[in-house]
Amino acid sequence: MKALVFKGPGEKAWETVPDPVIKEPTDVIVRIDSSTICGTDLHILKGDVPAVKPGTILGHEAVGTITELGAAVTTLAVGDRVLVSCISSCGRCSYCREGHYGQCTGGGGWIFGHLIDGLQAEYARVPFAETSVYKIPDELTDEQVLFLADILPTGYEVGVLNGQVEPGDTIAVVGAGPIGLAAIMTARLRTPAKIIAIDLADTRLARALDFGADIVINNGSEDPIARVMELTGGRGVDTAIEAVGVPETFELCTELIRAGGRVANVGVHGCSATLHLEKLWIRNVLITTGLVDTFTTPLLLKLIEGGRLDATPFATHRFQLEDTMEAYEVFADAARTEALKVVLSALPVEPLQVAAETPAVAHA
Ligand SMILES: NC(=O)c1ccc[n+]([C@@H]2O[C@H](COP(=O)([O-])OP(=O)(O)OC[C@H]3O[C@@H](n4cnc5c(N)ncnc54)[C@H](O)[C@@H]3O)[C@@H](O)[C@H]2O)c1
Ligand SMILES: [Zn+2]
Ligand SMILES: [Zn+2]
Repeated sequence: MKALVFKGPGEKAWETVPDPVIKEPTDVIVRIDSSTICGTDLHILKGDVPAVKPGTILGHEAVGTITELGAAVTTLAVGDRVLVSCISSCGRCSYCREGHYGQCTGGGGWIFGHLIDGLQAEYARVPFAETSVYKIPDELTDEQVLFLADILPTGYEVGVLNGQVEPGDTIAVVGAGPIGLAAIMTARLRTPAKIIAIDLADTRLARALDFGADIVINNGSEDPIARVMELTGGRGVDTAIEAVGVPETFELCTELIRAGGRVANVGVHGCSATLHLEKLWIRNVLITTGLVDTFTTPLLLKLIEGGRLDATPFATHRFQLEDTMEAYEVFADAARTEALKVVLSALPVEPLQVAAETPAVAHA
C-alpha cells in the first residue's frame, strides 16, 4: 500500500510500504476512506516529538471501513464504517475505566502516527478496536464526522469543559486556529453570553466570527487586556481558553480572567511559561491543562447526527489521498492558503473553493 512516511526531521515521503497485518486478537484492519492533517503532524516533522521514529506512518485522524477482524473482535464486522480517533483505549486500565483514555497505561492513548503507524495511508492496523473506534451512522458523510477524530473533542473537553463554561458566561478564546475554532464552536453548546476571540491574524479572526465568536480582538494591533476589561465592565472573563501554546498567550489568559475565573490551557507548550502566583494567589483562579481523552466523542457524534453541530466548515481544502504531499504544503502554509483542515480522500473529490481565492465566502 501507499502511505505518508516520516523520514526524520524535515523529511517525509508518500511511498510504498507493506500492508498492515493483524498483530493482536483485538486489532482490526481499516481501509482509510478519509483522513486529515493536524498541526501536531507539523510539529513531528519539525522534530519536536522525538518519540516518533523515522519510518513511522503519520496521521491520527480518519474515517475508514473495516476489512479484517482480529480473533477476539465480536462487536464489529467487516464492512463497518468507523471513526478512528486520535486516542485509543485499552478499555481495561484504571484510566480507561474512568474515561481518561488519553492517559491509558495499557498500550492506548495517543499512539497513531506517534508510537505506531498512523492513518495517512491506504490501510491501517487499529489496536483495541472494540473500545477505540466509533461506528458511523449511514446517513452521515465522512466529512461530517472526520473532525471528531481530534479537534472537536479537544476543543470541547480540554477547553470548554475543563474551563467550566456555564450558560451566561463571557469567555475568551486565545488563538483561532482549528483548535481555538473548535473551542468556540463547542462552547456554544453551553450557551455563553459572549465569546471573545483573540488572535494575531485578521484572517483567523474573520473565521472566528463565522464559527460563533461575538467579538474579535487582534492582539497585534490592540491591547487585549484593556479591551477585555472594557467589554466586561472591568471584571475580566469567566473563562479564558489558551489555544496557541506559547508563554505569552498563557500569561495573557491569566490576566484576562475575573477573580474566581478559569484558565483552560489547550495549547501544547514547548518551553516554560511564567505562572505569576504573586498576582494570582489572591484571585481564586483555576488553571487546567490536558491531553484530550475523547470521552465526549459519542456525545458530539449524537449532536452531529441530530443536526445540532456542523463541523463541515472546518474543511477548507480537499485532496486525493495520493496527493497527501501536496496537501501538507497547503496545510503548512495556512497564512497564505487560509487552510483550516484539509480532507484527504480515497475516493475522487470535488475540490472545495479555496478561501484565499474567494475571500468573501470563506466556506459553504
Ligand atoms: N491539548 C491537546 O490535547 C491538544 C490537541 C491538539 C492540539 N493541541 C494544541 O493546540 C494548539 C492550537 O492548535 P491549532 O492546530 O489550532 O494551531 P494553529 O497554529 O493552527 O493555530 C494557532 C493560532 O494562534 C494564533 N497565534 C499565534 N501566536 C499568537 C499570539 N501570540 N497571540 C494570539 N494568537 C496567536 C495563530 O495566528 C493561529 O491562528 C497547538 O499548540 C496544538 O499543538 C492540543
Ligand atoms: Zn491532532
Ligand atoms: Zn487503558
